[in-house]
Amino acid sequence: MRTPLVAANWKMNGSREFAEQFFAALDLEGLSCAVVICPPYPYLPLVAEKAGEGFSIGAQNLSDETSGAFTGEVSAAMLLDWGVRYAIVGHSERRSLYGESSELVARKFHAAQAAGLVPILCVGESLQEREEERTLEVIASQLQAVTEAAGESAGGDVWSRAVIAYEPVWAIGTGKTATPEQAQEVHRFIRERLGNAGAAVQILYGGSVKAGNAEALFAQADIDGALVGGASLDAEEFSKICRAAG
Ligand code: PGA
Repeated sequence: MRTPLVAANWKMNGSREFAEQFFAALDLEGLSCAVVICPPYPYLPLVAEKAGEGFSIGAQNLSDETSGAFTGEVSAAMLLDWGVRYAIVGHSERRSLYGESSELVARKFHAAQAAGLVPILCVGESLQEREEERTLEVIASQLQAVTEAAGESAGGDVWSRAVIAYEPVWAIGTGKTATPEQAQEVHRFIRERLGNAGAAVQILYGGSVKAGNAEALFAQADIDGALVGGASLDAEEFSKICRAAG
C-alpha cells in the first residue's frame, strides 16, 4: 500500500541557527512514514548533512529550464547534486504571487521528473472558486495541464513518480482547515482522475495542518499525509504530525 508521507515547507523562513536547533529537536525515532524537509535553497547543504536521519530533502521550487542564461534560477540537476529528491511545483504562493501559470507549473513538473526528482504537485481552489462550486473543475484543469504537457505517449506514466498535494488556497496559513470530509472528497476525485496510476500515488493534504488536526485528516481513506507550512517551523509540533502519520 501507499507509505504515508509528511513534507515540511519552511517557505522563506529560517536561518543557519534555526536549522541547527530544528534538527536537534526533530524526533522521528521509530517512524515508518516518509518525511521530506523543504528548506530555502541556501540551507540545502546544511539539511543534506542531516538527511541520513530519517528524512529526505525537497526543494520548494525549480526552474523549468536545464541550464543557461536564467538569472536567479536553479535547475533540477543542481538540486540533485545536493542530494535533493523531491521538488514542490505549483505551490499556490508561486501561482498567485509570482504569476506561475498551470502551463509553467507543468513544465517544472516534467523538468523535475526528467532529471529524476519526484515532483510534489500542488493543486487547490481559491475561496471564491469553492463558493462558486468550481472546486473540482479547477483541480481537474490543474491536473490536465500536466498530462497535456506530457503529450499522448506518456500515458499513465506521468503520475507514477509524483506526489500530489491538495491545498485549498483558503486554508493555507489562515488557521482554517478543510474538514476531513471536505478534503477526502477532493482527494478521492484526484485519485480517480489519475487513472491506473492513481492507486499508488501519495496524495497529501495541505492547509493549516497541525498536531491537533492531523490524525483526523490522516484517518481518511485517500489522505496519505500532509504538506505542512507554519507548523513545520516547530520541530516538536512537526514531529507530532509525522507521528500521527505512522
Ligand atoms: P500552512 O501552509 O500549513 O501554513 O497552512 C501549507 C502550505 O503552504 O504548504
